[in-house]
Amino acid sequence: MTADPAIGLRGWLHARAERPLYSGDWHGISLESVAKETGLRLDQVANEHFYEALYRRWKDASFASDDGWVNAKRRIADLMADTLRQYAPPSPRVLSIGAGLGLIEGHLLDAGWRVELQECQAESLDRFRSDPRTRVWIGADLHGLPSTEFDAILSISMAYALSLERYRALLADCARILRPGGVLIVWDHDVRIAFSTLRSRLRGRRQLFWGWLRTPNLHTALAEAAGFRTERVRFFDASLSPVDPPLRLAGLQSPFGRSLAQELTFTKPA
Ligand SMILES: C[S@@+](CC[C@H](N)C(=O)[O-])C[C@H]1O[C@@H](n2cnc3c(N)ncnc32)[C@H](O)[C@@H]1O
Repeated sequence: MTADPAIGLRGWLHARAERPLYSGDWHGISLESVAKETGLRLDQVANEHFYEALYRRWKDASFASDDGWVNAKRRIADLMADTLRQYAPPSPRVLSIGAGLGLIEGHLLDAGWRVELQECQAESLDRFRSDPRTRVWIGADLHGLPSTEFDAILSISMAYALSLERYRALLADCARILRPGGVLIVWDHDVRIAFSTLRSRLRGRRQLFWGWLRTPNLHTALAEAAGFRTERVRFFDASLSPVDPPLRLAGLQSPFGRSLAQELTFTKPA
């Protein structure tokens, strides 16, 4: 990655701690075999064609997933609802980007929120197409979405999949499609040294370049460069309970591995 003056020295310094994330498996599906099918090299990050093939296979397996993973989506939906209540305008029109199976959005819709779903692949969102409460947007970017129409955007476990350039472009588009006073909530993995990844690589297991782990300061520098104001940054442990911010040094956290996920709340100034 190169120095990027647009995000300032602070963002540039924190970009040094941006870490690649590797993965070998998605709910029992070998990512190497999906990469082969879609002609993706293992050292290239997964793209929309890859996700389309991945979700097609997962659909063939009836989207089998473990209970812990499914239950975590409800907890995240509750956390998002709390943040929306605190920071979004009343009765917000919400867009969730990179919605995946739409489990979090399903909970929010059932709780009465107005939520639309966006994805780079169409395989996983069939059940929402005929749902009169919502709308589905398919595309690998937000270019086709209307300007200043949304009051809130959720980016849940999605930003990590984007290169710095694509993430910056996405943030600029988020600023464009939000109304003034609107809120952007980014929920993402936190930076840590992934010992399980190191172990797999040392054992010679083949893993796909799955994305990037970014520091909270890099997220905020990028969002502020796109015109957002940072309202709140929170950190969560493995059970999705809030924890105090850890001390950090290049991906090492003290106390060790305290934060697994981060929630960053930004607003577009009115
Ligand atoms: C780890 S999943 C998270 C799904 C969902 N937000 C959740 O938390 O369950 C990441 C999602 O981002 C989607 N994605 C990756 N790149 C994207 C892009 N450029 N535009 C839209 N979605 C994208 C993938 O298809 C995938 O569904």
